[in-house]
Amino acid sequence: MTKIKIGIIGFGTVGSGVFKVLNENKQEILAKTGKTFEVVSVLDLDKEKIESITNNPELIADSFDDLLSKSDIVLELIGGTTIAYEFVKKVIQASKPIVTANKALIALHGKELFTLAELNNTVILYEAAVAGGIPIIKAVREGLASNKIEWVAGILNGTTNYILSEMKNNGLSFDTALKQAQELGYAEADPTFDIEGIDAAHKITIIASLAFGVALNFNSVYTEGITKLQLKDVNYAEGLGYSIKLLGVAKKSNDGIEVRVNPTLIPKERLVANVDGPMNAVLVMGNMLGPTLYYGAGAGSEPTASAVVTDVIDLGRVTTDSKPSYNVPAYGFQNSEIKDCEFLKINQITSGYYLRASFVDSAGVLAKITSFFAAKNLSIDEMHQKVLKKNEKENDVIIVINKAKELDIDIIIEEIQSMESNVGNVIKIRLENLSK
Ligand code: HSE
Repeated sequence: MTKIKIGIIGFGTVGSGVFKVLNENKQEILAKTGKTFEVVSVLDLDKEKIESITNNPELIADSFDDLLSKSDIVLELIGGTTIAYEFVKKVIQASKPIVTANKALIALHGKELFTLAELNNTVILYEAAVAGGIPIIKAVREGLASNKIEWVAGILNGTTNYILSEMKNNGLSFDTALKQAQELGYAEADPTFDIEGIDAAHKITIIASLAFGVALNFNSVYTEGITKLQLKDVNYAEGLGYSIKLLGVAKKSNDGIEVRVNPTLIPKERLVANVDGPMNAVLVMGNMLGPTLYYGAGAGSEPTASAVVTDVIDLGRVTTDSKPSYNVPAYGFQNSEIKDCEFLKINQITSGYYLRASFVDSAGVLAKITSFFAAKNLSIDEMHQKVLKKNEKENDVIIVINKAKELDIDIIIEEIQSMESNVGNVIKIRLENLSK
């Protein structure tokens, strides 16, 4: 088969980008594969858009069934988990290969869809679902197949990374930086999924499964966004030599597997701490290779479309007149190895911590705070006091600790908060050194 017929469901930012990439890179793709990939059918409520972008009204599908019957490979680029889920299931049940950019769909329903695809002798590819144009699925599932993955830490959401960069570099508050992100079109229509960490949680759910060979389990992922992050802490962290990033973290240790999204202090000497603006970066620690870092555009029409088209090319290379023979398993592990796994609860993890507490100054405050750590046999790595209001003698105390159990830290926080001179709540932000 030298001509591969493509059907596109959803002709928004990514769908129209796919059309552009396939057309503009036609010769390049032909030279690489010996095949032509032609969009034969497009389904979208906005028929005018299809016509104006493709200049070919014949591509407008009458119905989903019309599109399905004409296509060798179907692309689901609608997003969400309602109608997209129905369409994807129908494509799989027709034993046709499907490519999707839909992280929520894979994180929430991937387990069922992978099994269904196996039963129907077809495949579902989803490179664009994680970190847009960065080929991180391919890197983890294929490029690093020789290694045991120890941990992954990634900036997986461009909107929040833009907001955090503006807070750090230009002193904007969270609200002002969010507004700016919306004006520039980085934040999605409803920014909740971005700023509450849900988008990043979908993505780290997927990476964790590929890294450790466990079933997708979005509901077991701890998710904390950046809405409560204060400029004050971004500035204090900066002064101490750290950047705060919204990190997706997946780690395997003797205690179990932890998968979480939370604002995180990272030492500025790490490359990933310097990834600013709406970019993504994923750091993967292999047991033999050591760390590798993948950086690039995690969103946008052409970057995301590039990942979709790469999946299409992979399928095109193995598509014959009989059936696709794509042989990389959905999780990158043999299906028989994939087990369900409850991830560690957040209070069961061990991490670094940045704590900030405010006090009305009185003798013995610092001595008392340090006694709480000493009682847990925890060594404090840094402790600073900043006088806020000289007259009222109100101080901020900042403590950095490189390794502690979250359970111990939570107890210490309660102890600090019960001190008479304490003002307000203690701020806790996790810290990752991201070294071997
Ligand atoms: N909204 C996402 C981001 C892109 O800001 O990175 C799509 O996953």
